[in-house]
Amino acid sequence: MSESQQESDAAVRHFPLDAWYAAAWDHEVGRSLTARTVAGRPMVLYRTTSGRTVALADACWHRLVPLSMGTLRGDDEIMCGYHGICYDSRGRATFMPAQDTINPSATVHSYPVVERHRFVWVWPGDPALADPTTVPDLFWNEHPDWAGDGRTIEVGCGYQLVVDNLMDLTHEQFVHGSSIGHDGLSESEFEVTHTDRTVTVTKWMLGIEPPPVWRQALQDRFPDYAGLVDRWQIIRYTAPSTVTIDVGVAKAGTGAAQGDRSQGVTGTVINTMTPATANTCRYLWSFARDWCIDKQAITTRMREGVSRIFFEDEVMLEAQQRGIDANPGYDFYNLNIDAGSMWTRRIVAQMIAAETVTDEQFSSIHTGDRSR
Ligand code: FES
Ligand SMILES: [Fe+2]
Repeated sequence: MSESQQESDAAVRHFPLDAWYAAAWDHEVGRSLTARTVAGRPMVLYRTTSGRTVALADACWHRLVPLSMGTLRGDDEIMCGYHGICYDSRGRATFMPAQDTINPSATVHSYPVVERHRFVWVWPGDPALADPTTVPDLFWNEHPDWAGDGRTIEVGCGYQLVVDNLMDLTHEQFVHGSSIGHDGLSESEFEVTHTDRTVTVTKWMLGIEPPPVWRQALQDRFPDYAGLVDRWQIIRYTAPSTVTIDVGVAKAGTGAAQGDRSQGVTGTVINTMTPATANTCRYLWSFARDWCIDKQAITTRMREGVSRIFFEDEVMLEAQQRGIDANPGYDFYNLNIDAGSMWTRRIVAQMIAAETVTDEQFSSIHTGDRSR
């Protein structure tokens, strides 16, 4: 493939393949078959009897029927539901109907899998590059000092639109005015920094009236406090599609901006967006907090509250995707508020351009290498 062809491929495909993506919550994968499309690759996920997670290409070597329509067999095998070929967890055929010899080329791709902090991560790209130490660190999801819960949203938009949405929270003033938005939020200053794989957007809003969700949260901890607050939003992006947001409020003037949060409440919004196709994604999110962590009622209230807020985003993002589909080739205009998202897109474009295995080669890995 020529360099210019590779460049145009990179322009078309907006997600890197050499990356970890969260395919599912840990509780969604068990001794049954779960079908997921990750970065355009249909996969079937299950656990072996010893509890290990497996992700195989969801297409039988024989006639491409989805293996997710089959059944589990033995300790770690899956049997195709059409003619009964069985594969082990490495994707190698172990049984063929009506014949004693097993064709050595009969394999389906077994994707690298890592289970960490409540998510099952898969690597759709070159397996030789799959380094488990590069899975995004979302420790808040199961750390004893934090409490929280979350959900999954299947969004009818490209994953980068969700990243854009999270990298610029000025939209809270307009989209989430009744819960977390406040007047003047879109005018407050912010700072953007980046490395070759991360982008950070930091915003402090000092001495403001707290929006309803944060007034209630602060009163969980300080029931008598009804005054002004210092509010922060520190957005941290890890390429290609994970965004954690350090959010919270403290009693105004008590030193939160200088590092003393003892008079406040802190939350972490954990977001990881897994592209399914060019214009659909699976968005796994959770909200973890550091206050009143023994109170399940607050966990439920925060999860439901964030759910309602994210539904407002979902409506906006799907409408935006329809606008994009109706105007092919349209280049976005960028405002100052888009600085963070512009860096994320630059990083992703660099990651895609650096990938050396072509889409054609990946699709042969995907259904087993026929040349063997
Ligand atoms: S299609 Fe799977 S065994 Fe024939
Ligand atoms: Fe939002």
